[in-house]
Amino acid sequence: MSSFSIAWLDLREGADFAARDKTLATQALEWLGQATDPVSPDRIIVDLGAGTGSSLRALTKLGANNIVWRLVDLDGKLLDEALRRHGKQYLIEDYQADLNIVGELPLTGTHIVSASALFDLTSAAFIDALIDRLDARKTAVYAALNYDGTTTWTPAHPLDEKVLAAFNQDQRRDKGFGPALGSACTGYLQKALENKGYTVTIKPSPWQLGAKDQPMLNELINGITAAVNEHYGLTESELDDWKKFRLTNIAEGNCTIGHWDLLALPR
Ligand SMILES: C[S@@+](CC[C@H](N)C(=O)[O-])C[C@H]1O[C@@H](n2cnc3c(N)ncnc32)[C@H](O)[C@@H]1O
Repeated sequence: MSSFSIAWLDLREGADFAARDKTLATQALEWLGQATDPVSPDRIIVDLGAGTGSSLRALTKLGANNIVWRLVDLDGKLLDEALRRHGKQYLIEDYQADLNIVGELPLTGTHIVSASALFDLTSAAFIDALIDRLDARKTAVYAALNYDGTTTWTPAHPLDEKVLAAFNQDQRRDKGFGPALGSACTGYLQKALENKGYTVTIKPSPWQLGAKDQPMLNELINGITAAVNEHYGLTESELDDWKKFRLTNIAEGNCTIGHWDLLALPR
């Protein structure tokens, strides 16, 4: 299962929705409601790295309506899937585009720029260029589920910390945007948006995974092992040992993985 396959995005969506800070999401929608113009009631949300439309589904569940959704993603298959699922119910404009070409992102008239599980993949240069394009008087930013580098497992294994350190190092690898910010992304984004004049609030949105999430945990453990199996100083037998222990304990154990949500509102 690849990191952005439909199957993986589907598998994580329940945990993502549960993790999202609902106060922050609701605040974003309230701000959007206040921006509503009775003559032209549609509001525009541009969802960056939209995948199959997870942000659309989450915000709709929380009350979003009359939205023009501009979904932007490099992967046409994911956008097709978003259209297949929602094209008849919602106003969707799909843009198959590389986010790195920031100058061409369809931001004109945007009320909210949203993203979920995206900014930890991106770089400081990308965030700077994106924020440079935003009108801090008119466009809000809602960025959910940004990984923060923390993971706790129950029961514990002696190699948990070493595996996590290796995984966090891998998170800084170039993921297509230049050196990735990984767990530093929320802090970087917050500061950059504050410097631009926004009022920024951040709230924790950890994944709380347990017995009900066995298929997702299975993928996660395999994914972590695959990510750190070279270059990070863990021997094959150490990793094997860790992976076997983790897979054996999926049903009884649990796992918390830290993320943060961020809302930046015009002053
Ligand atoms: C972790 S997934 C999150 C998808 C979706 N936001 C969600 O929460 O389910 C990251 C998304 O970013 C997209 N992506 C990655 N690099 C990109 C790039 N350079 N330009 C546009 N989209 C990109 C991927 O195709 C993928 O859909």
